[in-house]
Amino acid sequence: MSKIKDMRGRFGFHNLPFTRELRVEERFELPFFEDALEALHQTIEALMSAALIAPAGTGKTALLRALQARLPPARYDVHYVKVTNLSKRDMCREIADCVGARPAASYPMLVRRLQERFTDASDNDGLRPVLLIDEAHDMRPDVLSMLRILTNFDMDSRLVLGVVIAGQTPLRTMLRRDDIQDLARRLAHVAVLRTLAKDESHAYITHRCHIAGSHSVPFSPQAMEALYEIARGNLRATDQLALKTLDVAHRQSDDVASPNHVAQARQLLWP
Ligand SMILES: Nc1ncnc2c1ncn2[C@@H]1O[C@H](COP(=O)(O)OP(=O)(O)O)[C@@H](O)[C@H]1O
Ligand SMILES: [Mg+2]
Repeated sequence: MSKIKDMRGRFGFHNLPFTRELRVEERFELPFFEDALEALHQTIEALMSAALIAPAGTGKTALLRALQARLPPARYDVHYVKVTNLSKRDMCREIADCVGARPAASYPMLVRRLQERFTDASDNDGLRPVLLIDEAHDMRPDVLSMLRILTNFDMDSRLVLGVVIAGQTPLRTMLRRDDIQDLARRLAHVAVLRTLAKDESHAYITHRCHIAGSHSVPFSPQAMEALYEIARGNLRATDQLALKTLDVAHRQSDDVASPNHVAQARQLLWP
């Protein structure tokens, strides 16, 4: 009989494990992750704004997706915007495009149109507009402070739009700037995420194997240790290293990944 050709077959997976596609229901539920989700949810329910600050690869985008899944479309009009280094006007255009506001050429007009669009959703459709802005650490300070203007309705007498800005740790420093204080003071909550501790990392790897359809975990206990030593509980690094390790083990026709496979995978990924 021929050797199993496919990596999934060898390790008993239905799907490729450790990939980026992850259904919200299949997420790994950790107390700190669920607490951050709950706090952001409550802030949005109160029609206020919040920030989510955490290092790259620790689950911010996954958390925003989980938040969106919690906000029923019958009550919320949620839009996800991923920003790059845009000017105020281009950022407004981007948001206008995303939420379906009427286009306009000038920045002040765009702000007006956006506000109209949000009050419309709220007054006419009974929907609460929510903006989820990812990669916000890449925003220019003046663009960040523009969000303050966007959330000001009827001279601040009404709460209409809820905003969550998610970004890597430089966002924290930006929010301390004097010229950002107007916005920073509007943030009713700042959620954080952290890297996993060793036992959490083991549980995470086990979880990702299970949701990929395997009943067992194809890493030796020492390989699990090695994964943690190298990836240090960063989710994305753990995913990349674990997947590459399985690939290496599979190519060598080994059914269980060892620390040696982990070391080879590391060399291949991050030479
Ligand atoms: N709660 C979770 N359960 C399972 N996997 C997760 C969870 N959070 C994040 N991940 C996975 O970790 C990786 C990094 O997460 P991501 O949200 O992209 O991080 P960030 O946006 O902070 O850079 C993704 O591949 C994602 O699928
Ligand atoms: Mg992200």
